[in-house]
Amino acid sequence: MNPLSALVVSIWLAAVPPGTKPTDKTVDCLTSGCHTQQTNHKVTHGPTSVGACDACHDYVDPAAHTFKLKREGANLCEFCHIDKTGREGPVVHQPVAKGQCISCHDPHGSATKSLLKAESSRAMCLTCHTNVTEGKHMHGPVALDCTPCHKPHTSEVPKLLAMERQQLCLSCHQEVSDEVGKFRHPHPPAAKDCLQCHNPHSSNEPKVLNAPAKDLCTTCHKAIADVVQGASHPHSAVKDGRGCLNCHVAHGSDRAHLVKGSTVSACLECHKAPIKLETRTINAVAEIGVEKNFKHGPIRQDECAGCHDVHGGQHNSLLVEPFSSKFSLAYKEEEYALCFKCHDKSLVAKDLGIKPTGFRDGERNLHWVHVVNPTTGRSCRACHALHASRTENHLADTVPFGEWKLPINYKRTENGGSCAPGCHNPQVYDRVTAKSTPKAP
Ligand code: HEC
Ligand code: HEC
Ligand code: HEC
Ligand code: HEC
Ligand code: HEC
Ligand code: HEC
Ligand code: HEC
Ligand code: HEC
Ligand code: HEC
Ligand code: HEC
Ligand code: HEC
Ligand code: HEC
Ligand code: HEC
Repeated sequence: MNPLSALVVSIWLAAVPPGTKPTDKTVDCLTSGCHTQQTNHKVTHGPTSVGACDACHDYVDPAAHTFKLKREGANLCEFCHIDKTGREGPVVHQPVAKGQCISCHDPHGSATKSLLKAESSRAMCLTCHTNVTEGKHMHGPVALDCTPCHKPHTSEVPKLLAMERQQLCLSCHQEVSDEVGKFRHPHPPAAKDCLQCHNPHSSNEPKVLNAPAKDLCTTCHKAIADVVQGASHPHSAVKDGRGCLNCHVAHGSDRAHLVKGSTVSACLECHKAPIKLETRTINAVAEIGVEKNFKHGPIRQDECAGCHDVHGGQHNSLLVEPFSSKFSLAYKEEEYALCFKCHDKSLVAKDLGIKPTGFRDGERNLHWVHVVNPTTGRSCRACHALHASRTENHLADTVPFGEWKLPINYKRTENGGSCAPGCHNPQVYDRVTAKSTPKAP
C-alpha cells in the first residue's frame, strides 16, 4: 500500500491565528500560514506539499507544540523510498550509509528537482569536498557537475564511479581511446589507467597532469632518469620546455618508442637552424629533412639512436661511440669506433683480397690510402657527409679548410669516380682498369 494514501489530510479551517502556536493537536499544519518556510519552495517534497507533515513529525507535547521525528535516520525516508538508495550496495557513500539523508536533501523542499540543500548537486558535493577543485586547472566536466562521473548514493564501482574508471575516461575521450586502442604501440600506463598521469578533478599543471610534464615521465622511467643524470654530455632537450614531450607522445603511437611524428621531424623542430651556445655553435642538420637527398642508412630508417645517445651520453656530439672531431690525424682504429660499429673495418684494410670497398683503383684500397696513415690520415669526414648529402655514397659537397669550404667536385663513373678537390690534383679511380694511383695526401 502506498503509505501516502494513509496520510491524506483533509482541509480544515485555521484554528489559530497566524504567529501563535497552537496548544493542541492540529490536523492541518498549512492553513495557519505559520509554516511557509517549509512549504514555500520551487520544488516541494511530495508529502510536504500535501500537508502530510505527520509522515515525519510526531507530537511530543501538543500543549507545548513540540515534536520528534517519527523515525530515525534513513528509516525516516526509506519508509517511503524503499530501495531507492540501496544502502547495502557494494560501495556506499558514507553519509548515505550513516542515514544522513538530510545532509544533502531538504525534507521539505528546495530549488532543485532532487530537493538538494544547495543550488546544484555540484554545489552540494563541494560543501563537504572542497579539495577537488583546488588546482589551478580544472578538468572540463568538474567545472560543471560531479554526477557525470559519480553516483551520489551507491555504486558498483569504487569511489562511487558511474562505471569502471578507465572505461569512464574513454567514454568521453574518443581520440585517446583510439590512441590506446588502435595504435600499434599504446603506452602501457595509458592503456591501463589514465590516473597514473592525470588527476580526474583539477591540478596545478596544465592538462590536469599529476606532476609537471618534465618530472612526470621519470617517476616511472628511472633508467632514463639515470642516463639523464649521469650524462657527461647532456642534451638539454630532455629537460627544457616540454621535457620528454619535446620528442615523445604520451598515449600511444604507430611509431616505435612513442616518438612524436617522425624522429627526423621531432629533431628538426630544434635543429633546422644552427643553435648558438655561449661557447660554440651547433650546426643545423636541415639536410636530413630534404626529400631528394641521399640519406645515411640509419637516417633512412628514421633512426638517430644508432649514432646518438638522444637522452644524453658520454661522448662529444652525444655520439654512442667515439668519432674523432679531427680532420687529419694519425690512424687509430678507436678514433673511428662509431663507424666501425656498423661498417666492417676491413673497409680500410691494405690487403684487398676480399674487395671490401668500392673506393679502390684496381686492387689498391683508396680508403686505406687516405685514412690509414701513421701521421696524417684523413678522417672519414674529409670526404663523407655524415647525415645526408646530394651525392651518392654520402660524399660531401665540400671539405672544410679552416673557415673555407673547398668543393670536392666528386663525379661517379661506371666503375669508379673522380674528384677535383683543393687537396690535390684531379684524380680518377677505376676498379676494373687501374688509373694513375694517387699518392697518399
Ligand atoms: C519527509 C519528512 C518530513 C516531512 C514530510 C515534513 N518534515 Fe518537517 N522536518 C523533517 C526533518 C527531518 C526535520 C529536521 C531537519 C533538521 O534537523 O535539519 C524537520 C524539521 C521541521 C521543522 C523545524 C525547522 C526546520 O525547518 O528545520 C519544522 C517547523 C517542520 N519540520 C515543519 C514541517 C511541516 C509544517 C511539515 C508539513 C507541511 C513538515 N515539516 C513535513 C522532516 C519532514
Ligand atoms: C511519506 C512518504 C515519503 C517520505 C517519508 C519521504 N518521501 Fe521523498 N518523496 C515522496 C513522494 C510521494 C515524492 C514525490 C514523487 C516522486 O517524485 O517520486 C518524493 C520525492 C522525493 C524526492 C525527489 C525525487 C525526484 O525524482 O525528484 C527526493 C529527493 C526525496 N523524496 C527524498 C526524500 C528524503 C531525503 C526523505 C527523508 C528525509 C524522504 N524523501 C521521505 C514520499 C516520501
Ligand atoms: C551526498 C549527498 C546525498 C545524500 C547523503 C543522499 N542523497 Fe539522495 N540524492 C543526492 C543527489 C545529488 C541526487 C540527485 C541525483 C541526480 O540528479 O542524478 C539524489 C537523488 C535522490 C532521490 C531521487 C531519486 C533518485 O534516486 O534519483 C531520492 C529519492 C533520494 N536521493 C533519496 C535519498 C535518501 C533516502 C538518502 C538517505 C538514505 C539520500 N538520498 C542521501 C544526494 C544525496
Ligand atoms: C555531508 C557531507 C558530504 C557531502 C555533501 C558529499 N559527501 Fe562525499 N563523502 C563524505 C564523507 C564523510 C566521505 C567519506 C570520507 C572521505 O572519504 O572523505 C565521502 C566520500 C566520498 C567519495 C569517496 C568514496 C569512496 O568509496 O572512497 C566520493 C567519490 C564522494 N564522497 C563523492 C561525493 C559527491 C559526488 C558528492 C555530491 C553528490 C558528495 N560526495 C557529497 C561526505 C560528503
Ligand atoms: C571526469 C570524471 C569525474 C568528475 C566529473 C568528478 N570526479 Fe571525483 N573522482 C573521479 C575519479 C576517476 C575518482 C577516483 C580516483 C581514484 O580512484 O583515485 C574520483 C574520486 C573522487 C573522490 C575520492 C577521492 C579520494 O581520494 O578517495 C571524491 C571525494 C570526489 N571524487 C569528489 C568529486 C566531486 C565533489 C566532484 C564534483 C565537483 C567530482 N568528484 C567530479 C572522477 C570524477
Ligand atoms: C563526461 C565526459 C568526460 C569524462 C567522463 C572525462 N572527461 Fe576529460 N574532458 C572532458 C571535457 C568536456 C574536457 C574539456 C575539453 C576541452 O577543453 O577541449 C576534458 C578535458 C580533459 C583533459 C585535458 C585538460 C586540459 O586542460 O586541456 C584531460 C587530460 C582529460 N580530460 C582527462 C580525463 C581523464 C583522465 C578522465 C577519466 C578520469 C576523463 N578525462 C573523463 C570530458 C570528460
Ligand atoms: C603516461 C602518462 C599519461 C597517461 C597514463 C595518460 N595521459 Fe593523457 N596526457 C599525458 C600528457 C603528458 C599529456 C599532455 C600532452 C601534451 O601536452 O602534448 C596528456 C594529455 C591528455 C589530454 C589532452 C589532449 C590534448 O591534446 O590537449 C587528454 C584528453 C588526455 N590526456 C586524456 C587521457 C586519457 C583519457 C587517458 C587514459 C586513457 C590518459 N590521458 C592517460 C599523459 C598521460
Ligand atoms: C606509470 C608509469 C609510467 C609513466 C608515468 C610513464 N611511463 Fe612510459 N612506459 C611505462 C611502461 C610500463 C612502459 C612499457 C615498458 C617499457 O618499455 O619500459 C613504458 C614505455 C614507454 C616508452 C616505449 C619504450 C620502448 O622501448 O619502446 C616510451 C618512449 C615511454 N614509455 C615514454 C614515456 C614518457 C615520455 C612519459 C611521460 C609523458 C612516460 N613514458 C611516463 C610506464 C610509464
Ligand atoms: C631529443 C628527443 C628526445 C627526448 C627529449 C626524449 N627522448 Fe626518449 N627517445 C627518443 C628517441 C629518438 C628514442 C628512440 C631510441 C631508439 O631508437 O633506441 C627514445 C627512446 C626512449 C625510450 C625507449 C628506449 C630506451 O632507451 O629505453 C624511453 C623509455 C624513453 N625514450 C623515455 C624518455 C623519457 C622518460 C624522456 C624524458 C626524460 C625522454 N625519453 C626524452 C628521443 C627523445
Ligand atoms: C627542444 C629542442 C631540441 C630537440 C627537439 C632536439 N634537440 Fe638536440 N640539441 C638541442 C640543444 C639546445 C642543443 C645544444 C646543446 C644542449 O644544450 O644540450 C642540442 C644539441 C644536440 C647535439 C649536439 C651536441 C653537441 O654537444 O654537439 C646533437 C647530436 C643533438 N642535439 C641531437 C638531437 C637529436 C638526434 C634529436 C632528435 C632525436 C634532437 N637533438 C632533438 C635542442 C634540441
Ligand atoms: C651514422 C651516424 C649518425 C647518425 C645516424 C646520425 N648522426 Fe648526427 N652526427 C653524427 C656525427 C658523427 C656527428 C658529429 C659531427 C661532427 O663532429 O662534425 C653528428 C652531429 C649531429 C648534430 C650536431 C651538429 C654539429 O655540427 O655538431 C646534430 C644536431 C645531429 N647530429 C643530429 C642528428 C639527427 C637529428 C639524426 C637522426 C635523424 C642524426 N644526427 C643521426 C653521426 C650521426
Ligand atoms: C648505426 C649503424 C651505422 C653507423 C654507426 C654508421 N653507418 Fe654508415 N651506413 C649504415 C647503413 C645501414 C648504411 C646503408 C647501407 C646500404 O644501403 O646498404 C650506411 C651507409 C654508409 C655509406 C654509404 C654507402 C653507400 O653505398 O652509399 C657511407 C659512406 C657510410 N655509411 C659512412 C659511414 C661513416 C663515415 C660512419 C662513421 C661516422 C658510419 N657510416 C657509421 C649504418 C651505419
Ligand atoms: C678521401 C675520401 C674518403 C675518405 C677519407 C673516406 N671515404 Fe669512404 N668512400 C669514399 C668514396 C669516393 C667512396 C665511393 C666509392 C665508390 O663506390 O665508388 C666511399 C665509399 C664508402 C662506403 C661505401 C662502401 C664502399 O666501401 O664502397 C663506406 C661505408 C665508406 N666509404 C665509409 C668510410 C669510412 C668509415 C671512412 C673513415 C674511416 C671513410 N669512408 C673515409 C671516399 C672516402
